[in-house]
Amino acid sequence: MGTQAAPATRQIAAVAVIGAGQMGSGIAQLAAAAGCSVFLLDSDPAALSRAVTSISSSLGRLVAKGQLSQAACDDSVKRIKCVSDVQELRGVDLVIEAIVESEDVKKKLFVELDKITKPSAILASNTSSISITRLASATSRPSQVIGMHFFNPPPIMKLVEIIRGADTSEGVFSQVKSFSERIGKVVICSQDYPGFIVNRILMPMINEAFWALYTGVATKEDIDTGMKLGTNHPMGPLQLADFIGLDVCLSVLRVLHNGLGDNKYSPCPLLVQYVDAGRLGKKRGQGVYSYGRSSSSVKP
Ligand code: 3HC
Repeated sequence: MGTQAAPATRQIAAVAVIGAGQMGSGIAQLAAAAGCSVFLLDSDPAALSRAVTSISSSLGRLVAKGQLSQAACDDSVKRIKCVSDVQELRGVDLVIEAIVESEDVKKKLFVELDKITKPSAILASNTSSISITRLASATSRPSQVIGMHFFNPPPIMKLVEIIRGADTSEGVFSQVKSFSERIGKVVICSQDYPGFIVNRILMPMINEAFWALYTGVATKEDIDTGMKLGTNHPMGPLQLADFIGLDVCLSVLRVLHNGLGDNKYSPCPLLVQYVDAGRLGKKRGQGVYSYGRSSSSVKP
């Protein structure tokens, strides 16, 4: 009595990551490398198996560079338990959702998580742009719902954008901030507005690159080279759009357009057409550019 730590200061020990795609597997890797026990949940066994391969290879790069011992790499992989049943998440302290970017699907998941996880568990979403306040309103614990927006590839990108919903408590914000720092990230904090900070600024730039291509200002290569060499971005905006996924870019732009009501966020018809055609970017082998199966190189 009286010696029990308050929820706001309790260390996060067990983490669930929902969705074993690129983002989910990267987040699971970070949490495991920081010593947490991790439950990586996906309904697709093939996605889980791809995630384990990708995590092992990503940690393997660190071993090869001498930044991690083989034993620490093996321990991290062992700390990740792949599961397909949400019931396994009863004991976790933090859930990070990284599933498809659909408000309805995320809300359904949050309702389920709210029922299953222990009352003190924090429910975080890696959404790129969907309102945290609205996701929180689907649960009975809106003060424990928060946005944790990672950037692709999560093991490399230094940033986590934390989004406070209307009711997110200060204690939950502090816990998530310390956890983000513990996994090696720099934190920025955004209020709950469409696109938060980074996507609100990044997606209009990507959209503008599509407009430049659509209206014949320049070739895709010149647009990308211009932004790479002219502004020192690691990737040009069209290549970056392929890397993120054109469907994700389109969905974020629609959230910006609907939420902020300004035509400047209206998606370029060329982006819409590529998505309609299934040219979703690197993950599908075809976006603005074509990607060979075994190569990551960009082919015009
Ligand atoms: N795990 C571990 N290490 C990795 C890795 C991974 N998954 N991916 C890359 N690396 C390491 C490599 O080993 C290499 O390390 P080294 O320099 O010590 O040898 C380093 O990262 C660079 O990798 P590569 O040489 O393979 O390739 P690049 O130099 O082309 O870098 C990149 C790749 C880091 C992806 C770089 O092109 C980049 O920073 N691109 C921009 C990425 C970006 O903007 N992401 C944010 C997108 S927006 C977003 O995610 C938000 C969403 O809501 C839309």
